Amino acid sequence: MTIRTVSTTPFSDQKPGTSGLRKSVPAFQKPHYLENFVQSIYDTLNPAAGKTLALGGDGRYYNRPAIQIILKMAAANGIARVKVGQHGILSTPATSCVIRKYQTDGGIILSASHNPGGPEGDFGVKFNTANGGPAPEKVTEAIFARSKEIDQYKILDAPDVDIDTLGESKLGSMTVEVIDSVADYQALMKSLFDFDRIRELLTSGKFRMCMDSMHAVTGPYAHALFEKCLGAPAGTVMNGTPLEDFGGGHPDPNLVYAHDLVEILFGSNAPDFGAASDGDGDRNMILGRHFFVTPSDSLAILAANATLVPGYKDGIAGIARSMPTSQAADRVAEKLGVACYETPTGWKFFGNLLDAGKATLCGEESFGTGSNHVREKDGLWAVLFWLNILAVRQQSVQEIVQEHWQTYGRNYYSRHDYEGVASDRAQELVDRLQSLLPTLKGKSYGSYQVEYSDDFAYEDPIDGSISRNQGIRIGFTDGSRIVLRLSGTGTQGATLRVYFESFEPDPQKQHQDTQQALGELIAIAEDLAHIRHYTGMDKPTVIT
Ligand code: G1P
Ligand code: ZN
Repeated sequence: MTIRTVSTTPFSDQKPGTSGLRKSVPAFQKPHYLENFVQSIYDTLNPAAGKTLALGGDGRYYNRPAIQIILKMAAANGIARVKVGQHGILSTPATSCVIRKYQTDGGIILSASHNPGGPEGDFGVKFNTANGGPAPEKVTEAIFARSKEIDQYKILDAPDVDIDTLGESKLGSMTVEVIDSVADYQALMKSLFDFDRIRELLTSGKFRMCMDSMHAVTGPYAHALFEKCLGAPAGTVMNGTPLEDFGGGHPDPNLVYAHDLVEILFGSNAPDFGAASDGDGDRNMILGRHFFVTPSDSLAILAANATLVPGYKDGIAGIARSMPTSQAADRVAEKLGVACYETPTGWKFFGNLLDAGKATLCGEESFGTGSNHVREKDGLWAVLFWLNILAVRQQSVQEIVQEHWQTYGRNYYSRHDYEGVASDRAQELVDRLQSLLPTLKGKSYGSYQVEYSDDFAYEDPIDGSISRNQGIRIGFTDGSRIVLRLSGTGTQGATLRVYFESFEPDPQKQHQDTQQALGELIAIAEDLAHIRHYTGMDKPTVIT
């Protein structure tokens, strides 16, 4: 087997976004495209020689060929060992778990998360560091800088590695260890949750759940956990076989894309509990019978009930939420007497807080919830957390949420996405709004008065790094907010995200339709940002 050094020229578009480098499959299949980026990662490891990595992906189209390329390049770069998930499968939280448990020097996750897959779909490469979390900005910037000057990469000329049989083999002088994709993750879940109690609930005959894996990576994990280990009847997990194109679906667990599950939970004879996860298993959606739990509320409710769960029985150190996420969690933190941190969008900003022990639970409005057990958001962890609470409290999902609102008040919350907007028009909208920001304070719009308006900047309390331009915030005197930002994960044009939040302390007024309750704020956003004009769209493409 010989190491081949291949000359190459840089691509200018390999800047990692909110969550790794994400492009269409054809873009990744361009000669040298994947190789350039992977070599840039290895060069940034500096030195790669002797290191151990974890490697796996969500099973989407191009997962297997990419794994072979990454392995052969690892061997050529002197990496000592790669722990690769069997069949190339590792969910994002499971990769984080493996990195931490075996103290590898990092890991590579192949996924474009909730973006559609298939030959014309999306693909992605994400590098996680030794703490198990997404590489922080200084690392992604170093990888990007390297990608702009790269002139060669190294790859071993060798036959493909068998990634389907568990156990060790040699690729040149590197050891490839094919590991069970589920076992380590399942053991971690067992250490956190009261499996006996959850099993009692699931086998009582009085409680039914439905888990939609959306033909994506959590299928094998969900079958193992809910059906094999916790005793739920076969068929509890739907769409549980990972498919390269996710069955043609859009593996994003929200009310629009997880419609099969939504129909079941909002239909007649609905089960008591429903959940879905995304392409790579880090997102979750929680439903009760005829009831949707917003991700922001879910974070607040997990925090308020954390001591019911063995892994968190001694209480939580703090909560962290991304800036656009509703302030429901802040109210719980206040009552618990712990800090609540507001970070920019993207899980990478939680890593330092978790490592420093300042936050225990983290969440994003984009269906992401997690804790210090790994350094990624974790879909099935959130499902188990809810099941543990339901098993202890013996109430319905709806009762638990409504009691929560009575105690803490309700934060009405919604996000409107405008997808596929022309990039220059989206930028014009943002630029115009930015120029208005200094003039808004004190102005009244209907019943709302602007208290502050800014472009969110974050100073990391641990390493002091500053991240600017993280989204436009318009806050009103009653605590309501409008937030606007452009997505950092899309691959076509721009996606404008507009977030709305209003607080309702009065239990008598907590049962309105969300879009109606937010109607006035929605109109104000249009007034201020001229969304229809710039997007050319009458209404959002997705409302969550
Ligand atoms: C989106 C979400 C963000 C999440 C990210 C990765 O990023 O908004 O909360 O961390 O996906 O799952 P965006 O496209 O908004 O940049
Ligand atoms: Zn994801």
